[in-house]
Amino acid sequence: MTSADKRRLVIREMAHSELLFVETIHASAFGRDEEARLPHAIISAGHDVISVVAVDGDYFVAHALFTALEGADRALALGPVAVVPDRQGEGIGARLVRFGLDLARERGWRSVFVLGEPGFYGRLGFRAQLAKGAVVPWAGPNFQALELVPGALDGWSGVLVYPEAFTPGDEQD
Ligand SMILES: CC(C)(COP(=O)(O)OP(=O)(O)OC[C@H]1O[C@@H](n2cnc3c(N)ncnc32)[C@H](O)[C@@H]1OP(=O)(O)O)[C@@H](O)C(=O)NCCC(=O)NCCS
Repeated sequence: MTSADKRRLVIREMAHSELLFVETIHASAFGRDEEARLPHAIISAGHDVISVVAVDGDYFVAHALFTALEGADRALALGPVAVVPDRQGEGIGARLVRFGLDLARERGWRSVFVLGEPGFYGRLGFRAQLAKGAVVPWAGPNFQALELVPGALDGWSGVLVYPEAFTPGDEQD
């Protein structure tokens, strides 16, 4: 990406009317519908979210969603995150997530949990060690956390409750 391209790329919060564009980003990046449906399901259910996009002219190139979790103090779940296939590897995903993390910190959120590739999220400061105390169905080396406030997860452990849209078909029994 040239410096002129970088200047043209706008990273900002998503407007509600842009949900449809965001769905197409996830559908093309993941090649299936599961992640594409999540933003609409979560936002329309009224959950507290931070939803950020990267837009190049009229072209929506990336989206990341942060959703409030229950079970830890002021904690967010990050995901889905996607960059359209023809713009991956340009640093857009990392810029977008950092923008969302900065907004979250400004708004008083204390920690962020993510399930994903440590090769990508580790560079952004996420650590599996910090998520060790979380009881979730997807615990493991790809389940990571980041403290927005230093020490926010010190000594914490508990069940993290995700919005139902993250676990379709799970009866929570
Ligand atoms: C994963 C994804 C969001 C990364 O966005 P991106 O804009 O392509 O990534 P960036 O260019 O910002 O990469 C930042 C760094 O992470 C690394 N990285 C990116 N994707 C990676 C991956 N899947 N595994 C390991 N490292 C990765 C890059 O090499 C880069 O490293 P560098 O700083 O040393 O150059 C994007 O590729 C994507 O949408 N993939 C398909 C959907 C997906 O898998 N989403 C994530 C679900 S957890």
